Amino acid sequence: MTVLLTGGTGKSATPLANLLLKANVPLILATRSGKVPAPFRGARFDWLDASTYQIPFETDSNIDRIYLIPPPVLDMFPPMKAFIDFAIQKGVKRFVLMSAALLEEGGPAMGKIHEYLHSRQVEYCVLRPSWFFDNLRLHYADYIRKNDEIVNAAGSGLIGWISTEDIADVAFKALTDQVIEHSNPVMVGPELWTYAQIAQLLSDALGRKITHRSISGDEYTKVMVQRGMPEDYAAFMSNMDVRIAGGLEEKAFHRADFVGKRRLQDFIAKHKDAEEWKSV
Ligand SMILES: NC(=O)c1ccc[n+]([C@@H]2O[C@H](COP(=O)([O-])OP(=O)(O)OC[C@H]3O[C@@H](n4cnc5c(N)ncnc54)[C@H](OP(=O)(O)O)[C@@H]3O)[C@@H](O)[C@H]2O)c1
Repeated sequence: MTVLLTGGTGKSATPLANLLLKANVPLILATRSGKVPAPFRGARFDWLDASTYQIPFETDSNIDRIYLIPPPVLDMFPPMKAFIDFAIQKGVKRFVLMSAALLEEGGPAMGKIHEYLHSRQVEYCVLRPSWFFDNLRLHYADYIRKNDEIVNAAGSGLIGWISTEDIADVAFKALTDQVIEHSNPVMVGPELWTYAQIAQLLSDALGRKITHRSISGDEYTKVMVQRGMPEDYAAFMSNMDVRIAGGLEEKAFHRADFVGKRRLQDFIAKHKDAEEWKSV
């Protein structure tokens, strides 16, 4: 048995890789460069270049389970279907897909991949988490650093923020348990927070006033395009924010299958001196 983690050095795969390493489960981290930190084994892999699909299997022919982090493009179905088909031919029996709380089977983006996994004779688990703590440090860093503000289109919507370490605990079990316990768990953290409340938490931790500014979905699409996101994907992501503003993440929180233990306050305290949050 060997586990392949796509998005291998990303936010959710990093704590998962550490859990697998600690449990002595053989694993390969896939990245576009093939470079990964020691002591991990890496393989070059690019969703958008089918000639790389075989490289992880050349690196380790025992790969039989895969953690799927989709490519950051809206039309992810063609490359993901192609790779899933290729992997099944290579003997892969189990897939764990990163999706999202608001994405239903058969819906857009990962919803279609969920539907496809369901249609194949494979074991699968579709993780449907709420929003990651790490976004505050990574995605929102530019405006926090420059303007002391978090900018998005989420209004006063509540979110059940979750730690990627809690997600990794569930992903680890889905990859290594004899039988997958839950095939599509909606996953949240222990508490609901609006962005305005988070701005207050950040103000207290960083010792300067941070505010939340909600803008329209269209305006937020432009912000994400400026950050380098393709326009259709940016529009899709800002629509997720509009859905947060409409209370859908709050609803997901109340019907979650898994509630993480890690607290957002502890994450902010741990990272309060992070470069990403320093004023420029
Ligand atoms: N952030 C959230 O709050 C949240 C909530 C729910 C669901 N999700 C979903 O989670 C997924 C992201 O997961 P994550 O945050 O763990 O990942 P991540 O931190 O965004 O990392 C993804 C990795 O994928 C690699 N990558 C980018 N383009 C690639 C390509 N064409 N082919 C192969 N690899 C590529 C990049 O590494 P290299 O540059 O090294 O190749 C990157 O480090 C997204 O689908 C998102 O919708 C996120």
